[in-house]
Amino acid sequence: MSLSRSDLAGELDRLREAHLYRTPRTLAGPQGPRPLVDGRRMLAFCSNDYLGLANHPRVIAALKRGADTYSVGSGAAHLVTGHSIAHQALEEELADFTGRARALLFSSGYLANLGVISALTGRADQVFEDRLNHASLLDGARLSRARLRRYAHADPRALARMLDGDQVRLIATDGVFSMDGDLAPVPELVPIARRADAWLLVDDAHGLGVLGEEGRGSLDHLGLGPEQVPILVGTLGKAFGTAGAFVAGSRELIETLIQRARSYIFTTAPPPALAVATRESLGIAQRESWRRERLRLLIRRFRAGAAELGLPLPDSATPIQPLIAGTARQALSWSRRLERLGILVMAIRPPTVPEGSSRLRISFSAAHTTEDVDRLLEALGSLRHETPETGSAVGR
Ligand SMILES: Cc1ncc(COP(=O)(O)O)c(C=O)c1O
Repeated sequence: MSLSRSDLAGELDRLREAHLYRTPRTLAGPQGPRPLVDGRRMLAFCSNDYLGLANHPRVIAALKRGADTYSVGSGAAHLVTGHSIAHQALEEELADFTGRARALLFSSGYLANLGVISALTGRADQVFEDRLNHASLLDGARLSRARLRRYAHADPRALARMLDGDQVRLIATDGVFSMDGDLAPVPELVPIARRADAWLLVDDAHGLGVLGEEGRGSLDHLGLGPEQVPILVGTLGKAFGTAGAFVAGSRELIETLIQRARSYIFTTAPPPALAVATRESLGIAQRESWRRERLRLLIRRFRAGAAELGLPLPDSATPIQPLIAGTARQALSWSRRLERLGILVMAIRPPTVPEGSSRLRISFSAAHTTEDVDRLLEALGSLRHETPETGSAVGR
C-alpha cells in the first residue's frame, strides 16, 4: 500500500471503521500478571513472559550489576567495539544450551529473522514458509528478494507438492505458532528439506524455555538436533524475560552471518548489561523446572474449564491459548467486556492473523495462580450472555 500525505487521515479512519485500529496500552510498574494499565490494576493474560522471569529479583540485580560493570550503552556495533565479554559469554552459553557449535546475538527476533534469511537467500531463490509464520520470517524472505511461497498451515504434504526442485534454498517455520500455540510438524519437514537440499530454519521464539528438557525448546521436545534442523532462531524477550534474540548453528553458518547479516552488522550491539541479565535468567529457566510444571498445570486447568463452558479453543498444549472470535469486531467486543471485568486479553486481528480468524490470544505465565485461571474462566463464562448490541455470545 502506498499513502500520500493527504491519504493518512482517511486511511486511519478506514482502520477505525474496520475495527482494526490499534493503540499501545501504557503500563506503570513492573511486568507481571497484575500490571497497572492506564492507571488501573488488571489481571492480564497477554504477555510472553511465560516463566515469570521479567521481574525476577536476580535478573534485575544482574542487569544492575551489568550496567555497573559495562556501562549502559554498548557504544557501537558488534563488529566495531560493541561486543563485550558479557555478549561473548552469553553466546557461548546459548550455543551450549541449544546443543549447537555457536550462537550469534541479535537485538531482536525480528532482526534475527531478517538477518539470517537475507544472508542466505537471494533473488534467484525460493523460500517456502508456513502460511501462519511470524511476520519477521515472511519479511526476511521479502528483504532477500527471493520468491516467497507460503504453504498451508502445518501441512508438510502441501509443502512437498509445491516444491518444484530447483533453487529451493530455505524452508522456515515457527516452532510453536505465535498466535495459535500449536507445534510445527518439524519431523515431517526434515526429510522434505533434505530431499530438496534446502536449509531448514525453525524459529522457536515460543518454545524455548517452555518445552523440552530444561526448557531446551520444541526441537528438544521432538527429539531433533542440528543434523535435522541446521538453523535455530530463539528470542530472549519471551520465556527468558529480557530482550534480544539469537541464531544458533554450525561454526560456518555463524561466521557467514557475521560477514553477511545486515541486521547484525549495521546496528548498535544490545547493552552488555542485558547479556548479563539474560545469562542469569537462562540459568534460572534451566534449573527451575517447577515453572514449566506450573504452566502445564495452569494450561490443563484452563482447557478443562474452557471445555466445560464449550469455548471454541483449538488444540494447543502451550501457554498460548487462542479463543477464536471470527470477525475483528467480535474479538474487540469480547476483549472490551473482559476489560470491564478487570481482565486484560488482547484482541488479535488482521494483519497479525488471517481475515476471519480474529481472536483473543490468551497466554499464561508461571507467575499466574490457579485462582487467576478460575477468574478468567468465570469472566469468559459471563461472555456467554452477550447482549445483541455487543455481538454474539462465546461458546455454546
Ligand atoms: C515466532 C516469532 N519470531 C520472532 C518474533 C520477534 O521477536 P522479537 O519480539 O524479539 O522481535 C516473535 C514475536 O515477537 C515471534 O512470535
